[in-house]
Amino acid sequence: MRVVIQENYEKMCKWAADYIAAKINAHKEDRPFVLGLPTGSSPIGVYKELVRKNRAGELSFSNVVTFNMDEYLGLPREHDQSYWYFMHDNLFDHLTDMKPENINILNGMTDDPEAECAAYEAKIASYGGIDLFMGGIGVDGHLAFNEPFTSLSSRTGVRALTTDTRIVNSRFFGNDPEKVPAYALSVGIGTVTDSKEVLVLINGHNKARALAATVEGGVSQKWTCSALQLHPAAIIACDEAACGELTVDAYKYFLDIEKEERL
Ligand code: GLP
Repeated sequence: MRVVIQENYEKMCKWAADYIAAKINAHKEDRPFVLGLPTGSSPIGVYKELVRKNRAGELSFSNVVTFNMDEYLGLPREHDQSYWYFMHDNLFDHLTDMKPENINILNGMTDDPEAECAAYEAKIASYGGIDLFMGGIGVDGHLAFNEPFTSLSSRTGVRALTTDTRIVNSRFFGNDPEKVPAYALSVGIGTVTDSKEVLVLINGHNKARALAATVEGGVSQKWTCSALQLHPAAIIACDEAACGELTVDAYKYFLDIEKEERL
C-alpha cells in the first residue's frame, strides 16, 4: 500500500486530482475508462480541481464511465442530501463533456434493492471492472457504507447505518440523527478491492485513528478499510492532520519513500 502524505487538504486534493487526470489521459484503449467515485466532504476539493482541468481543456470525460459508491435508501434524487444530487451539484453538472448515460448511481428509491444491487454489480462487470476507484472513509473506517464488521468480501447490497455514522452525518440533516436514513445501498468491500486501482482520501484530525488502523493495524473486519492492505495497487492520499496516530517510523517511512510526490 502506498501512503502519500501532503501538507494540507488543498494539496492532498490537488495530488489526487492530478493522479486521476493522468490515469484518464493515459487511457488509450478502445473502451471507456471506468472510474469509481465517492461522496462526502473529503472529495469536494478533488472534484473542484477535476472540473477546473476539464473546463480548461486539460481533461476530457467523454470516454469515462462512472460508478458511485453508495446512496441512501429512501431518498429521491431531488433530495438535496441524496448522493445523486451531491454528485451532480459537485461534479457532473460542471463538466463540459460528461455523458449522462455514462453516470451510474444506485437508485435509492428502488422497489427491489436486491435486484438493483445485483444489476449494479453486473453492469460494473460488463465494462470489465473498475479501473480506478476513488473513496473516502468514515471516522469508524467505513469504506462506502461498509460499516465495521461488514464482510471484507461483501458485494453491492443494502447496509444498515450505525448510530455513530448517523450522528456524524446528521450535520447534513439539521443535526438530527433520526432524520438520517437508517439504510443505504452500497458497493461491497469486495467490489472496491476488485478494482484495478483504489485511491482513498483521508484527511483531518478526526480520521487519524482510521488512518492508523487502515495502514498499521491488522486486516480486520472491524476497520473495513484495512482490506486495502491486501490490494496490489491501493493508495492512501492524506493530509498531515490525519497522521496524528501513525507511529513515527511509519510516518517517516512514507514521507521518505514518497518524497517526490510531495507538492
Ligand atoms: C459517508 C459516505 C462515505 C464517505 C464518508 C466520509 O458516510 N457513505 O462514502 O467516505 O461519509 O465522509 P466525509 O468525507 O464527509 O468525512
